[in-house]
Amino acid sequence: MIVTDTTTDIEKRKATTRTVAMPADTNPAGDIFGGWVLSQMDIAGGIAASQRAQGRVVTVAIDSMSFIQPVKVGDILAVYTSISRTGKSSMDILIEAWVRRGQIGSREKVTEATFTFVAVDENGNPVAIPPLDQIPQYDDEISVAP
Ligand SMILES: CC(C)(COP(=O)(O)OP(=O)(O)OC[C@H]1O[C@@H](n2cnc3c(N)ncnc32)[C@H](O)[C@@H]1OP(=O)(O)O)[C@@H](O)C(=O)NCCC(=O)NCCS
Repeated sequence: MIVTDTTTDIEKRKATTRTVAMPADTNPAGDIFGGWVLSQMDIAGGIAASQRAQGRVVTVAIDSMSFIQPVKVGDILAVYTSISRTGKSSMDILIEAWVRRGQIGSREKVTEATFTFVAVDENGNPVAIPPLDQIPQYDDEISVAP
């Protein structure tokens, strides 16, 4: 049975991670690697998915992604997550990456994608995701519109 979480409203989107793009994350031309942005999204999605699953998760699929804006050294990259679908052991998480230019400028959306995570046991086998009423409140997270 497919159960859809009620966390898709923009108000329910969570600011899951924030980090600064550093010179070590650039290619030889000085631009931030797209793969670095993708890995930041995977990290944020993994946090959201493991909190929802209350355990270990693996990334099983990523839908198509296009980069709308570049990320530059010194930009703050903020990653927002919202769970859009919960199955038996799998869940889809809408993940958006935004930057704040030069650490203080206006925010711009860089990319978004839906990642699918699967809850697994210690042997890597799929396990059921617990019902929503068994999930604790994570008060350190703010629900925000980017
Ligand atoms: C995720 C994994 C455990 C699923 O194993 P599996 O044998 O396909 O398990 P199942 O067929 O029972 O599927 C389990 C769930 O995953 C979903 N799923 C499996 N492959 C999928 C895919 N390619 N895309 C989307 N969902 C997928 C199934 O729909 C099912 O969802 P449900 O339980 O909500 O109905 C296995 O594919 C795996 O370990 N993959 C590698 C994950 C990994 O290492 N990621 C990091 C790469 S570096």
